[in-house]
Amino acid sequence: MDIKAVRGTRDILPEENVKWHYIERVVKNIFPKYGYMEIKTPIFEKTELYIRGIGETTDIVEKEMYTFLDKKGRSLTLRPEGTAGVMRAYLEHKMYVTSQISKLFYIGPMFRYERPQAGRYRQHTQIGAEAIGSANPFLDAEIISMLITVFERLGLQNLNVQLNSVGCRDCRPTYKAKLQEFLTKRQDELCEDCKSRLTRNPLRILDCKVPSCKAILSEVLDISDFLCTDCSTHFDLVKKYLDQVDIKYVRNKFLVRGLDYYTRTVFEISYENLGSQNAVAAGGRYDNLIEELGGPPMPGIGFAMGLDRLVLALDDQKVLFPKEETDVFIAMMGEETVSQTFSLVHLLRKKDIHAEVLYGDKNLKSQISYANKIGSKFLIIIGDNEISRGVVTLKNMVTTEQTEVNFYEVLGVIQDELVKMKSKKI
Ligand code: HAM
Repeated sequence: MDIKAVRGTRDILPEENVKWHYIERVVKNIFPKYGYMEIKTPIFEKTELYIRGIGETTDIVEKEMYTFLDKKGRSLTLRPEGTAGVMRAYLEHKMYVTSQISKLFYIGPMFRYERPQAGRYRQHTQIGAEAIGSANPFLDAEIISMLITVFERLGLQNLNVQLNSVGCRDCRPTYKAKLQEFLTKRQDELCEDCKSRLTRNPLRILDCKVPSCKAILSEVLDISDFLCTDCSTHFDLVKKYLDQVDIKYVRNKFLVRGLDYYTRTVFEISYENLGSQNAVAAGGRYDNLIEELGGPPMPGIGFAMGLDRLVLALDDQKVLFPKEETDVFIAMMGEETVSQTFSLVHLLRKKDIHAEVLYGDKNLKSQISYANKIGSKFLIIIGDNEISRGVVTLKNMVTTEQTEVNFYEVLGVIQDELVKMKSKKI
């Protein structure tokens, strides 16, 4: 068959899924302790939501959306990110009426028509969190610290936390105008993309990676000199709280992020060894977004981490993921033993014991080598000879001790042995 996965998409095979599940388990353990509950929103939304939410002049909306018409001619888009959909759900269900603060998290695929490369896919998966209802810088520092707690728990080190404030709708326009004025004088030196950004979205020029643009940016004015008193105080407090709990960060005056909804705090966490696509998580405050989508004035903040990149970073750091362990493998020998084996595995699994068998008529040697390969803790051998005597052979694969046990007692013996093994481990 010559049909392959679509460019920029990939299969997550079972070995990698072990890692995904582990990350999800860690997240699902930590997030609720900060008050976040899971929300699931549809994978596609009305295109208009993203245009209004993310911003018409962003790369995502201009170039990267998977937009299509449904059978009734309505324009729909596969979600390129999670925040807009969560805000839509927040408004649609009027969560602000029943709750003073809504803390929501989500896990799911996002779709962007970007040029595929290592760590950048057209379908990628994000784990995101959004907190709506407070403008307090406490929340900014708390959400960053939650993210760091997740990374620490996963064992991910060598992270670089970058922080900036992009101001608010009162102070940002002055900076934008100054920036525009400065860059217009130097527009001949800008790359083609930035020339067009100059009138439509000049702030985006700040994080352009083209060397000629970067050279000009070293001379550019710092947004922190233009922040209004409220934004400046807010940013100082975020930094103070992070310092208090010893979270290291670097202030990056060029960090503006590629989505238009941000106000005040923005942040990005990167793992250097991943090359050019090294951001493993990013986010920021969006105090006007809900209002812009037609809701009440309601501040919010959030982030999303890229699960695909997180796995790459953890692999790079050779972090070991806990594997599902096989408790017992049952080798069956001969036609007569199949139905007994079926009953035994059924009973073992009912008691929450991980039992495996090989269904084909493999010889004993290859069944035992399979038991070894999967690292089973116990091996049970059931042959015609054993059946006629009402026993099975039970081998502890760790100590290599081997005994004969009554067929009806083997379940209890294994349960006891597993408990003993567990207590020794502890
Ligand atoms: P974002 O920076 O566009 O932010 O994406 C968040 C994370 O998703 C990135 O840091 C990266 O790890 C991962 N990611 C993004 N694009 C790709 C891709 N093409 N391939 C692989 N991984 C990717 C947002 O999406 C915002 N909604 C985050 C947010 C939530 N801000 C506030 N709340």
